[in-house]
Amino acid sequence: MGRPANAFSRSMGNLGQWIDDRLGVSAIWAYVMTGYYAPKNFDFWYFFGSLALLVLVSQLITGIWLTMYFKPDADLAFASVEFIMRDVEWGWLIRYMHSTGASAFFVVVYLHMFRGLLYGSYQKPRELLWVIGMLVFVALMAEAFLGYVLPWGQMSYWGAQVIISLFGAIPWVGDDLALWIRGDYVLSDVTLNRFFALHVAAMPLALIGLIFLHLMALRKVGSNNPDGIEIKELTDAEGIPLDGIPFHPYYTVKDVFGVGVFLLVAAFIVFFAPDLGGQFLEDANFEPADPLNTPDHIKPVWYFTPFYAILRAIPLKAPGVMLMGLSLVMLFLVPWLDRHPVRSMRYRGWVSKLALAAFVVSFIGLGYVGGAAGSSTLTTVARVLTVVYFGYFLGLPFYYKCEKSHPVPERVTKHG
Ligand code: HEM
Repeated sequence: MGRPANAFSRSMGNLGQWIDDRLGVSAIWAYVMTGYYAPKNFDFWYFFGSLALLVLVSQLITGIWLTMYFKPDADLAFASVEFIMRDVEWGWLIRYMHSTGASAFFVVVYLHMFRGLLYGSYQKPRELLWVIGMLVFVALMAEAFLGYVLPWGQMSYWGAQVIISLFGAIPWVGDDLALWIRGDYVLSDVTLNRFFALHVAAMPLALIGLIFLHLMALRKVGSNNPDGIEIKELTDAEGIPLDGIPFHPYYTVKDVFGVGVFLLVAAFIVFFAPDLGGQFLEDANFEPADPLNTPDHIKPVWYFTPFYAILRAIPLKAPGVMLMGLSLVMLFLVPWLDRHPVRSMRYRGWVSKLALAAFVVSFIGLGYVGGAAGSSTLTTVARVLTVVYFGYFLGLPFYYKCEKSHPVPERVTKHG
């Protein structure tokens, strides 16, 4: 008697069955896809997790291709990137896909994180899912910074100079730490070499490992949803959530639509505006690094500017660095700061809604200020926005005490 056929062996025939008997592919597929019941009311905000996975894969593939031609040598790096752009067949496309991909990564990850804040997706039992997500975010920041240094352009060089000097501001160990990171007394070929190793090997491995853990935690606790209801609490006789649908095919189809729209927008940027007016690739980085010539206005790429603005809001370097570090710590602590009995913003009162709106305004405002040339007015604005930013987190334990929440429905709802 034959074994029961599954989708894998059905589509792959006897070979499929042979592999499945030895690798358990169909059991894994069932565990993560067809047997993973996700809430049936996912909305727009649920596109960005799968998009982040897509960008990760694209970055890995284009990165491997760039590595075939890039030269991690302070005398050759800039020219090797120009060589990729002008002489390597399709090199310009691979390079622009990779540089646009870096910004796209942060766009989707920021929207993905915002969804978490909007629907309270970090609350029990998803605290670890959120914390692992934050570790992914920090690793992504490190990966982006290391990558930006590699072309050895003016902004690569001077940006790295500024960021490494921040580590130098840490009391007691700062100078030794900065020396250890650079591997030299000044930013040099040694630094470029180690940044290359970290960017192409160490950090990608760390990212892949962390994202695997992120998805493991997601599979364990299950997805939240826009209503913030725990669908596992209402199941049929077989234990299947009444408000759940199998991830595959329902959400794979939905995600394919998201991928289509995303690729259209990304292709438009790659083909028509790859530097996006100096936002994705800064003008100064089209000039080779010159240690004797400081650019007029050193600023990080847009995705770092909110944190850079917090750093600059304080005139003294060490406290500025500490405050910037704290701004990330706050995000890590969200699951324990937010004591609201209602999970989703849909049913929270106006105080919570206003606080989240103020947070968004502060983050975007800080992003703008961090990218602009410093002035006394902008420093004042940065200080006000920094207070709003931290105010949002420090208020999280109390918002529910000052507002009346709306009744939370028992079953998930459809909001169009
Ligand atoms: C490369 C980065 C990341 C990838 C590839 C990724 C991937 C995913 C995927 C595929 C999902 C399930 C689909 C979805 O809910 O959209 C998910 C859910 C989730 N992620 Fe991420 N993620 C990343 C970064 C982050 C970060 C930085 C955070 C927050 C700090 C985070 C927090 C969450 C949370 C809370 C959920 C569950 C949300 C819910 O069910 O409402 N993730 N992630």
